[in-house]
Amino acid sequence: MFDCALDLDTLFAQHSQIIRDRHARALAAENCAAVLVHAGAAPAVFADDQYYSFRVNAAFKSWAPLTDVPDCFIYFEPGRIPLLLFNSPLDFWYKSADLPQGYWTRHFDIRAVADRGAARALLPADLSHTAFIGVADAEIASWGLAGANPPTLVAHLDFARAVKSDYELACLRGANLLGARGHVAAARAYAAGATEFEIQLAFLTACGLREQELPYNTIIAFNEGASVLHYQRLERRAPAARHSLLIDAGAECAGYASDITRTYSFGNADFAALIGHMDELQQSLCASVRAGTDWRDIHLSAHHLTAELLQEADITLCDADEAVDTGLSSVFLPHGIGHLLGLQVHDVGGWMRSAEGGEIARPPGHDYLRLTRVLEPGFVVTMEPGIYFIEQLLNEALADSRAQKINWARVAQLRPFGGIRVEDDLAVTTAGCENLTRDAFSALRAGPEYLEAAPRSSSAAPAASGSAASGG
Ligand code: GLY
Ligand code: MN
Ligand code: MN
Repeated sequence: MFDCALDLDTLFAQHSQIIRDRHARALAAENCAAVLVHAGAAPAVFADDQYYSFRVNAAFKSWAPLTDVPDCFIYFEPGRIPLLLFNSPLDFWYKSADLPQGYWTRHFDIRAVADRGAARALLPADLSHTAFIGVADAEIASWGLAGANPPTLVAHLDFARAVKSDYELACLRGANLLGARGHVAAARAYAAGATEFEIQLAFLTACGLREQELPYNTIIAFNEGASVLHYQRLERRAPAARHSLLIDAGAECAGYASDITRTYSFGNADFAALIGHMDELQQSLCASVRAGTDWRDIHLSAHHLTAELLQEADITLCDADEAVDTGLSSVFLPHGIGHLLGLQVHDVGGWMRSAEGGEIARPPGHDYLRLTRVLEPGFVVTMEPGIYFIEQLLNEALADSRAQKINWARVAQLRPFGGIRVEDDLAVTTAGCENLTRDAFSALRAGPEYLEAAPRSSSAAPAASGSAASGG
């Protein structure tokens, strides 16, 4: 999934140095000599002999694209090559992972270990100056480590993680290419009459990923389902009528996530036009992204633009200033305009004031904003404006003075469509931003893969929905 023009070997060498320097600084601030990072373990199901799907600790995969092997450890002392204790049990019930090979492995001293005891034996006897990152279960807690997840160390690492290395940007481009491929297949399945569940299967197949390898549970919502922000039902039955599809789905590449949303209208020109306006609004917000901009200003500007759109679309009955000041815009746009993206879909550190700690407050009344920092080159963020017809929030507005400012007949007309979200992933630069998602859709359109997977034009095809309809 990487752009073959990239020299991954060189990119990873630079990235690995950045990660080592970052940990060395964090250790100095914490006054520790070394760090032990655990990949994590798959939790056991109660009273069963099965385990929940393994999800690797993000702090671990910042070191290496090793995402599917539980109980590995990385031990790092500044100035020395990191030690990777690779969990390879002798177990005739399960297939142990093969020793990794690839562009990244020469940057580690890799030792296969059959169990925890073997891992402990390869670590220094005295770990009293070694910080631990991960979930310290009773066995790890007995190893005499300095402490688990010391706040100063973690703050330094989390704060720095917002700025991506060139290697990480390459991974995020790869995740967007994969995600775009899935979205194209999903749109085609929708056009062909697939259910939500069948669209999920089309998405997974096109990405070549199993469900547990996705960065988050997909949101594939027909009709009113689109008004549930994190709808994850995956209905197996076809709805009585098809009005709209909102699909929020991303893929993972080498441990890095994409987070992409598109909305489609099924043959309704009015709703298709509204999607088109939202797409234009989203693009104008993307154009305002550059290093030095306070993300809170972008969020508030998104509310103003959304409030203007709501008034133009005859959904609200007051100007944008009033809609924002009275909280009316939040009835239709209750979530933040975007968040940091990287090793996690909602990446850590969004509110941090500095590596030393402290939080930057959200604007009053905007409690769900996940990012309040000033953008820096190398940040990767999502841009995801939307409008939704959410029963709970509409009922709340009905009970107060906002009720008179809503055109309820228009709301009733649009409720069967659920809502609209358009979401892209942006890499911030000094001059603006690189739109990783639109670039990925363009690359697919230019290549043979698009021809294989693209929605065919037919009478059943979703109606035009701005540039979102063509996936980018
Ligand atoms: N997919 C979750 C989000 O957009 O934040
Ligand atoms: Mn998002
Ligand atoms: Mn999303």
